[in-house]
Amino acid sequence: MTYQVVPFSAEHIPQALNIERKSQPAPWSQNIFQSCLNKRYFNFALLNSEQNLIGFLISDHIAGEISLMNICIAPEYRRKGLAQILFQQLVDTATEIHAEMIWLEVRESNKPAQNLYFQLGFNEIAIRQNYYPAKGGMEDAIVMSLSLD
Ligand SMILES: CC(C)(COP(=O)(O)OP(=O)(O)OC[C@H]1O[C@@H](n2cnc3c(N)ncnc32)[C@H](O)[C@@H]1OP(=O)(O)O)[C@@H](O)C(=O)NCCC(=O)NCCS
Repeated sequence: MTYQVVPFSAEHIPQALNIERKSQPAPWSQNIFQSCLNKRYFNFALLNSEQNLIGFLISDHIAGEISLMNICIAPEYRRKGLAQILFQQLVDTATEIHAEMIWLEVRESNKPAQNLYFQLGFNEIAIRQNYYPAKGGMEDAIVMSLSLD
């Protein structure tokens, strides 16, 4: 499969919204994506050979620590190692700026993402109770971190 990783920019937002709606219980809005387009963020877009968006990664960085805000692969492109490729871009960038840690939160029910993060070397740090809106109530978040030392 031919693909390309490029910086995520405003032109990718319409396709990202479409992937989000197919993927997330509480999809991000256009305004949220828009608010992530500043230089505090490291954002990557994954394009197929037709230059269509098939995945993206959004992360924020402050004081040597990176927060993974969102990583999403279009449903028809999953289980092909593409999330790992996007994540490696983040690790390469983090290494360039000598960042020490990557943090994230993941829904307690999201086992595919937890498996991905464990495979990438993240450790479970804490539980934030009732953190995410969910069908019929709220859902816990698992806080995970990866040390880049
Ligand atoms: C989580 C997600 C990003 C994984 O993307 P992906 O490109 O399919 O992941 P990869 O192919 O790189 O998989 C890497 C590893 O993650 C784990 N994994 C991924 N999908 C899985 C699934 N459905 N079930 C179990 N483990 C899974 C596996 O350990 C996998 O390694 P393997 O294929 O060698 O077994 C994708 O399922 C997705 O976009 N989900 C919806 C959005 C989301 O939940 N994002 C994360 C929270 S913000």
